[in-house]
Amino acid sequence: MGKSYRIAVIQGDGTGPEVVAEGLKVLKAASAKFGFTLDFTHYDLGGERYKRTGEIMSDETLKELRNYHAIYLGAIGHPDVKPGILEKGILLKLRFSLDQYINLRPVILYPGVDTPLKDKKPEDINFVVVRENSEGLYAGAGGFLKRGTPDEIAIQESINTRKGVERCIRYAFDYCRTRNKAKKLTLCGKTNVLTFAFDLWERTFYEVAGEYPDIKTDYAHVDAICMWMVKNPEWFDVIVTDNMFGDIITDLGAMIQGGMGIAAGGNINPQGVSMFEPIGGSAPKYTGLNIVNPMAAIMAGQMMLEILGEGPAALAIEKAVMEVVEKKLKSLSAGQMGYSTSEVGDLVAGLM
Ligand code: IPM
Ligand code: MN
Repeated sequence: MGKSYRIAVIQGDGTGPEVVAEGLKVLKAASAKFGFTLDFTHYDLGGERYKRTGEIMSDETLKELRNYHAIYLGAIGHPDVKPGILEKGILLKLRFSLDQYINLRPVILYPGVDTPLKDKKPEDINFVVVRENSEGLYAGAGGFLKRGTPDEIAIQESINTRKGVERCIRYAFDYCRTRNKAKKLTLCGKTNVLTFAFDLWERTFYEVAGEYPDIKTDYAHVDAICMWMVKNPEWFDVIVTDNMFGDIITDLGAMIQGGMGIAAGGNINPQGVSMFEPIGGSAPKYTGLNIVNPMAAIMAGQMMLEILGEGPAALAIEKAVMEVVEKKLKSLSAGQMGYSTSEVGDLVAGLM
């Protein structure tokens, strides 16, 4: 008998339910093939529920979610709800409360996928961003003074603790070692302007680097990283950065790997409950049309299995996704795949 895992499923808003359905289809096929059990429990969280009941996410739900092996999430964000309410009340609350201090985002161009970068091939675009996921500008420190008056002041502070920075950097070094590619870790910061926060990051980075003599280190400012990610993506193996910069550069990363339709991420607490999600949003304009690409959600499930320790099943899903992407899909964009959302899920599940 294989292992058994309890998975909480949050389909969320917009196209979340459609892509999660395909992810679950593939996960079920993989678990049947590889002999382990996934026990899914659905949680109704998101904009629709908030509009219906006024509740965002209760403490009771949060407590329950701590008891799962992992959380599988679709998308959070609703056009009728003021930006920030659902994001802070569900997504960021989960990341922070469950101390998912790493946001792991691979940027991989699969064979057969079009990248907007001329002359770049799969061997040129294959790196991973390790984004700090528990502090920085996202910590919510700051406030207003005299709001709505001509003398208004708004302050938004970036919180960087030695402990938070160090655990993220250590994770990145360990990850880079295990990945075993170019064995190069690049710190992405802004030491020329953010001279407090990134002074701490830089000092910690080089101190920890002393314990990893097999890993080459590099540094680049965030603006330059944006430039190099377009011009010379082959320079990168693993990039480590803070929460805000990580958010920004991974959208750029998603585009060079073929778009939001394929980009997956993991919110990871190496000692606790992790959460896996496609990194694109809820795509309200495509909702219910069965035309969005579920590959990002499928790859989020793939990453979940990898981290749960089901390596062979994870590898099989990745291989199946690569095959469908290369041999079947006309494009990774919504409405242009040549197949519907559910047909793409069927194709991948059929290869398990
Ligand atoms: C992401 C998203 C979130 C973030 C939003 C929805 C709060 O953009 O996961 O990258 O900024 O982290
Ligand atoms: Mn983002």
